[in-house]
Amino acid sequence: MTELTAALGLRPEQVEAVLTAAALAPSVHNTQPWRFRVLPDRIELYADLERKLAATDPEARELRLSCGAALFNLRMALQGFGVRPLVTLVPGAEAPGALAIVRRGGTLVPDEEMRALLQAVPARRTNRRPFHEARVEVRQRRALVRAAERERSWLHVVATREERARVKELVQRAHRIQLDDTGVLAELAAFTGHRPDATDGIPPASAGVRPEPQDEWTFRDFQASDRLPGKDYESDPLVVVLCSFYDSDLGELQAGQAMQRVLLTATTHGLSASFMSQPVEVKSVRDELRRALGGMLVPQTVLRIGFSTPVPATPRRAVSDLLITPNHHVDA
Ligand SMILES: Cc1cc2nc3c(=O)[nH]c(=O)nc-3n(C[C@H](O)[C@H](O)[C@H](O)COP(=O)(O)O)c2cc1C
Repeated sequence: MTELTAALGLRPEQVEAVLTAAALAPSVHNTQPWRFRVLPDRIELYADLERKLAATDPEARELRLSCGAALFNLRMALQGFGVRPLVTLVPGAEAPGALAIVRRGGTLVPDEEMRALLQAVPARRTNRRPFHEARVEVRQRRALVRAAERERSWLHVVATREERARVKELVQRAHRIQLDDTGVLAELAAFTGHRPDATDGIPPASAGVRPEPQDEWTFRDFQASDRLPGKDYESDPLVVVLCSFYDSDLGELQAGQAMQRVLLTATTHGLSASFMSQPVEVKSVRDELRRALGGMLVPQTVLRIGFSTPVPATPRRAVSDLLITPNHHVDA
């Protein structure tokens, strides 16, 4: 185990609190594919490629989105301690293989929005349950769109009936392709179901309800329990496609931060969210979705947003398991 040192002007226990907040980020199948190297003048973020889902996420795109989400939490937590984070994404030779370097850019007093987003970090959850029929208000939708913009990304709202039908069809098609992929199914099985003492993966209590053929949208089966009669999905959730402007590691890290800012903003508005990643995971369908969005924006994830009842938290690995020793060489 590596001992945590002081960094960025923070005491070791404050650094631990910052990394704990980072690790509360969402990640594909709750793989938590991030690692941190803590040095006195910086915190470096790395991908944990051993945690990559080779079949579901062969290009490690969702892994980088997840790391981007952790980076956003890390930024918020630093601000909570009055540290202004200076972030270099994909720093290259300066820290080979790192996804980001975070340095101290002086002090700041967090504004109201930052404080609210930081408070939302431990409260946010992926909620796979059916939502209530209530509609997301226009002002809330605008806040979500702005959250993505603030992180140099784009939140496309699936608005028209035709577009909804198109996206629904792409979700279904990708879902069917994945049901025929034994690698994808094995990864899903490895991270779901009853796994006593697991510190990763999706426990049954977080799995939502079992998908049924009449459902309008196609959700993944995370080995959920059977559905109670009358517990059907809402008819009209807000469906959004989070997009980056670049098809690159940089774009994915930006989109990951934007995804987390959108999810935390949703939490501050009392909104719940879940993912429908199938159409961005299957390359051919993702290309089609990209064309449907006009060809420029790069679709990174699809979210369903609405109102629901609270769900329990998923487990997390200990911070000590996420650390890279300061002198350890990291393969790019
Ligand atoms: C890039 C990415 C893709 C995801 N895709 C899905 C998905 O397709 N379906 C789903 O139910 N959850 C999906 N999730 C949610 C994760 O399973 C969830 O974040 C993880 O289990 C941790 O739980 P929490 O979000 O409640 O903390 C995704 C998360 C990320 C970051």
